[in-house]
Amino acid sequence: MCGIVGYLGSQQATPIILDGLRRLEYRGYDSAGIATLDQGQVTIRRAEGKLARLESLLANQPLSGTVGIGHTRWATHGRPSEINAHPHVAGGIVVVHNGIIENYLELKRKLLDLGHRFSSETDTEIIAHLVEQHFKETADFESAVRRALGEVRGAFAVAILCAQQPDRLIAAKQGSPLVVGQGQGEYFVASDIPAMLSHTRQMVFLDDGELVSFSPSEMVFSTLAGEPLQKLAKTITWSPVMAEKGGYRHFMLKEIYEQPRAIADTIAGRVRENLGEVFLEGLKLNESELAALDRICLVACGTSWHAALVGKFLIEKHVRLPVEVDIASEFRYRDPVVTAKTLVLVISQSGETADTLAALREAHRRGGKVVAICNVVESSIARESDGVIYTHAGPEIGVASTKAFTTQLVSLYLFTLHLARVRATLGQEKLRTMLSDLLSLPRKVEECLGLDAAIEQAAQTVFQARDFLFLGRGNQFPIALEGALKLKEISYIHAEGYPAGEMKHGPIALIDEHLPVVVLAPHNATLEKVAANMEEVQARGGRVLAVSDRADGDLLAKV
Ligand code: BG6
Repeated sequence: MCGIVGYLGSQQATPIILDGLRRLEYRGYDSAGIATLDQGQVTIRRAEGKLARLESLLANQPLSGTVGIGHTRWATHGRPSEINAHPHVAGGIVVVHNGIIENYLELKRKLLDLGHRFSSETDTEIIAHLVEQHFKETADFESAVRRALGEVRGAFAVAILCAQQPDRLIAAKQGSPLVVGQGQGEYFVASDIPAMLSHTRQMVFLDDGELVSFSPSEMVFSTLAGEPLQKLAKTITWSPVMAEKGGYRHFMLKEIYEQPRAIADTIAGRVRENLGEVFLEGLKLNESELAALDRICLVACGTSWHAALVGKFLIEKHVRLPVEVDIASEFRYRDPVVTAKTLVLVISQSGETADTLAALREAHRRGGKVVAICNVVESSIARESDGVIYTHAGPEIGVASTKAFTTQLVSLYLFTLHLARVRATLGQEKLRTMLSDLLSLPRKVEECLGLDAAIEQAAQTVFQARDFLFLGRGNQFPIALEGALKLKEISYIHAEGYPAGEMKHGPIALIDEHLPVVVLAPHNATLEKVAANMEEVQARGGRVLAVSDRADGDLLAKV
């Protein structure tokens, strides 16, 4: 994943692009670069490392020009270095790119035969050379871009400048996100909304296979094949502050504390508690379609997959429909059984995860209906699904998912209750009780966040450990997996999530005073068994950190 930003207008482009890149650093931060066009002259500044390095470079060697493009990179082809940083240039054609060009070696060979010489190890540089080659032949920037992109296989969102046509900026997409912003006599293009939000709220979402050409007086949309398109701008209601750190040390912390608000927003307007009803505006499947389902497949990656595992417990318990859960990168390779009676529910915060998108397309190919639980409005996954349940978590900038996860769980709960009412598997009284529990969730999460000092203290006792075990039973097992994933992703500490009952079949051998064991022990039907697992850990000298909803239970007294 990388972030791209482009600007064409009457202001200096560099500060606007830098500001946009800062808000896209979550998409990649191993190198960054900006190019501007000034009186037909292309100038490029690139730096390895975080954006701050590029900022210092620009402070010493400023860039002027009112047209420009920028990039913040997360390497795929070619190591992170200044030479591999974007923008890439060939004969006055300058390119920033997010995505992967699958046939780049084949194209590179062809271009080498034509006399092109390459200075980086990236797949992106191919695009600059291809456009240059076609520009030599056509002398028309836009058709050169169309022809070049027609030869490319893979995923791309690109923004391209041409020194010979300095009042143009062209952008296009296939498989990677791209949003266009329209200001007063100025235009923006970026991988994501926050990059432009302090300049405009009027945004147009490009679809796959579309191209936009900006000039000082207009922006013109077309397909990559050249068919003219009418695209409508949408007004984005996120405030710029919502997309910033809001005083927290980092985005992830801010997003953890945003959970009560995010959960309340996800529930808002969707619950009629007195009637025991849930209203999901974007679901699109009507009651008879929901009643006809004979199976649900939940498909997702990473944290979203953990939400899916919890979803299986919810749906099977309350709706009595068989549910399968798949990791998206496995789904399409295992010849899955999908029929017209299968609902494939894909879950994705970003709505752009390539494997989840591919699984969605596979489900459609096999004749299944697809509904997405998704956080990013108008993302590829949201657009390609038959229906969408949006999590209203707001932008999640910290890459490791937090508020998106909890709002995914809330969405799964809402969906389950809706399905249970339609299929009459739960009575109205039970639905009312469950909805009232749900409505109290933001307050309960607020209470948990109030425990932060105690949690920090507990962390002080174990922070030097190199390995952790997370245990849970039933619907707490996916939560144990999620806890272990967070520790790995954020603290670089090895951790494994395990079903508590499986501990005796292997991991028990590892337990000693150096292996803290986090045990999820809510007061439910399995608490006694979980408490027995805790005793087994303690009997081997292991340290238990129990996470529970009540401190006073007898069974937890010994921890
Ligand atoms: C990973 C992130 O790269 O992608 C996870 O680190 C996330 O936090 C996963 O859950 C899937 O992303 P998405 O956007 O499809 O939910």
